[in-house]
Amino acid sequence: MALSSSGPAREGWSSRTAFLLAAIGSAVGLGNLWRFPAEAGTNGGGAFVLFYIGCVVLIGLPILLSETLIGRHGQAAAPESFRRVAEQSQASPKWEWVAAFGVLSAFLILGFYCVVGGWVLYYIGLFASDIVQSGLGGGAFAGVSTESIEALFPALIGDGQLTVALGIAFLAITLFFVIRGVSGGIEIAATWLMPAFFVLLVGITVYGAFGGAFSETLAYLFTFEPEKLTGEVMLAAVGQAFFSLSLGVAGMVTYGAYVGRNVNLAGTSAIIAAADTSVALLAGLCIFPIVFAAGLAAGAGPGLMFVTLPHAFQDMPVGALIGFAFFIMVGFAALTSSVALMEVPTAWLMDNFRLTRMSASLSVAVGAGVLCVFSALSTGSLVDWHPLEAIPLFAGQGFFDVLDTFTAKLTMPIGALLTSIFIGWIAERRLVDSENGISGWLHQFYLLLVRWLCPLALAGILLLGIFPGWFE
Ligand code: TRP
Repeated sequence: MALSSSGPAREGWSSRTAFLLAAIGSAVGLGNLWRFPAEAGTNGGGAFVLFYIGCVVLIGLPILLSETLIGRHGQAAAPESFRRVAEQSQASPKWEWVAAFGVLSAFLILGFYCVVGGWVLYYIGLFASDIVQSGLGGGAFAGVSTESIEALFPALIGDGQLTVALGIAFLAITLFFVIRGVSGGIEIAATWLMPAFFVLLVGITVYGAFGGAFSETLAYLFTFEPEKLTGEVMLAAVGQAFFSLSLGVAGMVTYGAYVGRNVNLAGTSAIIAAADTSVALLAGLCIFPIVFAAGLAAGAGPGLMFVTLPHAFQDMPVGALIGFAFFIMVGFAALTSSVALMEVPTAWLMDNFRLTRMSASLSVAVGAGVLCVFSALSTGSLVDWHPLEAIPLFAGQGFFDVLDTFTAKLTMPIGALLTSIFIGWIAERRLVDSENGISGWLHQFYLLLVRWLCPLALAGILLLGIFPGWFE
């Protein structure tokens, strides 16, 4: 039980394991299953993937530790925690704006995340009706042609009313868990479902490995071709690393505030990063063999997971049931993340404006609902509306993609950059030393990474990615 050292008593995690699973639950989500394979495909495979892994270890992990450290020390919602650490280090309380900025990005992410959550709900329904029609034993979509299976996704995202309704439904489910509070809702979902999901994902990947195209997948995902590593690919990889680890939006600060003093933060961060990365790689190993075996385009973008997986389930024995179980699990993985995303602004409203959990979470949900409507419609009736057309980074992007790019390629890397400067240069050394749970050379290495590598690499990658023309 985590009790605060200062300020009002807060809710706490019932155990170390529960915190760990909830943090993993927040990290593992659509970012791993949907966004990672799609980004790897559009950015050309190996160079992206290997750079991504480097980013997780050398940039993601130190930032993850820094964020949980700030949260546990501050014992409050993210901005308040930043301010407490700043004040104890005789620094300006204005550092809390880093977190306020993060609260805003979490809110913006929720505004398109729920749309993808809605797509998942649709596929759950699709497999459920398949089971009802053809019985438990059959493969999925018996007798349906490949073309019609592939046509399902474009038809779905083109249907504005349906995608809006599904996105709002996903938000409502998220809201239900957030209202129940930390140990009541989030913990239960995370504790039971994440392990089950992992087992199913491994099973499907192993099955797929025997279906051919596996060696092609390995070559595609793990061959390093330096000429493919452009500034844009690097920025995409860093953005994906932060998105996947839930960093740069003060989300892990919020979670860290619920962690007990007895928990070793460095060890915990390493486990979270390892679990998150293995799920992303598994998702890649699960999806790309299907892409290659079926002759689909690796760079298909956001539809990749939804277009490829039904193929695999069509061929599998009891495929309808496995497909149904799989999308249920994806739904829960998405839910544990969206709950965390909604929790960030909710906790902030509660602490700053003394709102109850009920009214705070309701306000966040209504706001995200408005974003959800525009994001959902941007693949349908608003497909030609490009809100930030004048800015090269956003050229040709609809509302959904603008929210996605704005957060993953700008606010998350910037939030992480500021966090590393804060912990590396501003926060009092003794405070950092006593919280992070490491000593000796590892501690020196951590300091080297947060003080030098993280800020310099992030600043460089941001410039390279945003202004590719400057460096040619
Ligand atoms: N990491 C989550 C996923 O992979 C998404 C996410 C991004 C997130 N930022 C977050 C979740 C902040 C919680 C808090 O799906």
